[in-house]
Amino acid sequence: MDLSRRLLLGAAAGGAALSLAKTASAAEAVAPPLLGPAPGVARLGLNENPYGPAPSAIKAMTEALSTGAYYPGGGIQRLMEMIAERHGVTPDHIIVSSGSGELLNAIALAYGMKGTLISTNLFWDAYFKFAEDKGVKTVRVPLKADYSHDFVAMEAAITPATSLISVCNPNNPTGILEKAADIHAFAKAASAKTTVLIDEAYIELSEQPVSNSVVDLIRAGHNIAITRTFSKIYGMAGIRVGYVISTPANIAKIRPYVMGGMNSVGLAGAVACYNDEPFLTYSRAKIVEAREMVMAAVKSAGLTALPSATNFVWVNVGMNANIVRERMEAKKILIRGVYGTHTNWSRVSMGKLPDVERYCKALPEVIRA
Ligand SMILES: Cc1ncc(COP(=O)(O)O)c(C=O)c1O
Repeated sequence: MDLSRRLLLGAAAGGAALSLAKTASAAEAVAPPLLGPAPGVARLGLNENPYGPAPSAIKAMTEALSTGAYYPGGGIQRLMEMIAERHGVTPDHIIVSSGSGELLNAIALAYGMKGTLISTNLFWDAYFKFAEDKGVKTVRVPLKADYSHDFVAMEAAITPATSLISVCNPNNPTGILEKAADIHAFAKAASAKTTVLIDEAYIELSEQPVSNSVVDLIRAGHNIAITRTFSKIYGMAGIRVGYVISTPANIAKIRPYVMGGMNSVGLAGAVACYNDEPFLTYSRAKIVEAREMVMAAVKSAGLTALPSATNFVWVNVGMNANIVRERMEAKKILIRGVYGTHTNWSRVSMGKLPDVERYCKALPEVIRA
């Protein structure tokens, strides 16, 4: 083909591309955005934290884009060292990967291949479902009537067939943080019988994150693992960074099941903000402010909610929570509806304050309607 013909065809293709682009942009006008909430939508259903990412993380991630051609490699070691230093362990106690959900799946498979997994009848159970789907046996011990953990019953449920017992602390969707002494006593006793997993996704939002965590027991060599995430207090849910801390022996068991790995942008962001105390203080303060607004609105609407140590509140809406969810959705406020048999409870996440205000204002209206 001669050059002029090629140029001509190229121009025609360009014209077609242009008209396709025009069609696409017309479609975009109505299509939801690729990322984040659609304009005018208060997204309060996924426990995201829109106060992140930290400016320090955004700067580092923006810079990291230009090195996107390279595998993250040695940088992962740097993040592991930072995590190890904060928790007083060595890096061989740690795996970092793309979100704690990925690591929880790996843990559920690693232990589920060897025995039965125990947890409760109400927790963030995506990884239990993931393992059950692959044939892993699980046992779910009911929470107490006040939605706290029944640690006596949980410990009693451990049998020689048990390979792991897990607790979500603070729990999702209840928001309840167990007393530091209780979770420590349970983890210590149960870890003498089987591996204990504590999902600490929201622990940094609690008032005493250091004493509430059982990482001190891991330091002392107990058979315990904890998972943490950059999705909550760090506000990086879309960036996908999480980690597990456990004994080197447990880490060696879990590592072969990890499939996700790290991406260099997330890695750069995590390293930049991990110890960004001013940001962490700001993030926590905004979440607490929103939580207090929700608690006040719940009270003035004549409703009750469980005490929350997290960025969400579980509200007893006094009617079917799916109806409340639908009525809120009609006002472009997205919250959670019914969880299993807990039909009157609805979870709302602490988003941006104006969005939380919309929820607070709508609450008395949707329960009356
Ligand atoms: C208790 C709990 N654990 C783990 C996760 C998974 O978080 P990620 O995979 O974003 O780290 C979530 C997500 O909402 C959660 O609520």
